[in-house]
Amino acid sequence: MNIRALAAKAIFSVLEQGVSLSVALPKQQQQLQNGKDKALLAELCYGLMRHLPQIDKCVSDCLSKPFKGKQRIVHQLLLVGCYQLYFTRIPEHAAISETAEACRQLKFDGLVKVVNGVLRNIQRNKTELSTANPVLEFNTPSWIIKRLQQAYPDTWQQVIEQSHQRPPMWLRNNQKVQSRDSYLQLLQQIEISASKGDNSNAILLEKPVDVMQLPNFEQGSVSVQDAAAQWAAELLAPQDGELILDACAAPGGKTCHILESANTDVVAVDFDEKRLERVSENLERLALTAKVIHGDAADIPSWWNGEKFDRILLDAPCSATGVIRRHPDIKWLRKEADITELAKLQQKIVDHCWQWLKPGGTLIYATCSILPQENTEQVEAFLARTDDAELLTIDQQADKSAIGWQILPGQSQMDGFYYARLQKQK
Ligand SMILES: C[S@@+](CC[C@H](N)C(=O)[O-])C[C@H]1O[C@@H](n2cnc3c(N)ncnc32)[C@H](O)[C@@H]1O
Repeated sequence: MNIRALAAKAIFSVLEQGVSLSVALPKQQQQLQNGKDKALLAELCYGLMRHLPQIDKCVSDCLSKPFKGKQRIVHQLLLVGCYQLYFTRIPEHAAISETAEACRQLKFDGLVKVVNGVLRNIQRNKTELSTANPVLEFNTPSWIIKRLQQAYPDTWQQVIEQSHQRPPMWLRNNQKVQSRDSYLQLLQQIEISASKGDNSNAILLEKPVDVMQLPNFEQGSVSVQDAAAQWAAELLAPQDGELILDACAAPGGKTCHILESANTDVVAVDFDEKRLERVSENLERLALTAKVIHGDAADIPSWWNGEKFDRILLDAPCSATGVIRRHPDIKWLRKEADITELAKLQQKIVDHCWQWLKPGGTLIYATCSILPQENTEQVEAFLARTDDAELLTIDQQADKSAIGWQILPGQSQMDGFYYARLQKQK
């Protein structure tokens, strides 16, 4: 299969059907055997998602009338073609001829000439991509720009810039198997350069690698997880013998981390049955056990008649605006109205989970969002309506008077994340 045709199909799924790239891309990658081809396909899709408005304007300006209906995929193919001309080192003639060939493979033989013509036109008249308005300049929807300007009046441009960087690869050492120093030595032996992160098991790779190159990955010595996400289990601080609820658990990165940190009973719940399968797969690779339950975190009695929990991790469903550097399609899939809906859902889940926390217990409220409505404002409102809740400071918070710890994308090379540590009075 032609890589550009597969890229156009993946982009079509995202932009026309609202499918996330992390679902759409692997489906197309399956059609390729070679690792390098798979990497190029990923680069075309991710890169295009980062620069979509500029590339889209460049292509649209060359079309006398827009493609409609089924032909929309030819528009997406042109985006892939244009992206190659601006952002890759692929020789321009190869980029154009491969993209035109992709048009044939997509069974739009009649449009091959148009694709060829548009791309040649772009090649001939190549100038700087437009920065005529903020959406083009920052390759970000205006509602996100506006909200970031409000939340971070001095640093919003930096936040957006960081959200466009290619993220580093972080590992989580499995402390049940070996010490972080021992694993760093294993990496050193095979000349993978790495360093320690601030949290106790985080390892930062100098360059991303295929997980299969990582020593004993299959045996569970290590997992891939951003350092920001690794704070969840550390702040939760599970103790041996405790009963822990991971209320929104799938795909299970944090569930596994909790189990690696202490000998606890973990109940891992998620609403999404398909994503829940990943929790079981992750537990299996790491030889860990949890009670994995398909259920609603806002209706615990419907799936649980046991005791209350010593600690609860609520890694709430959120806008994921903190992880745009890893999932640039979020910018185009998320809509402004989603934020209010998500905030309502978060409120419902946190209020309900609180009822299931033992007196003296800790609840960690976490999101991978950088929007105050889902974070500080959410927790502030929770504290105002919950008499027996106390906010505990987090050592890592620069501003100790802030409500929770907001990590911004790129800070100490981490994803954007938010944590609040809440304790129930005895
Ligand atoms: C941020 S993700 C969780 C990531 C996970 N904690 C990890 O580290 O791998 C949020 C999850 O909340 C789940 N979710 C959304 N609404 C839910 C609900 N009412 N009850 C339980 N899970 C829910 C989603 O299916 C999604 O898997």
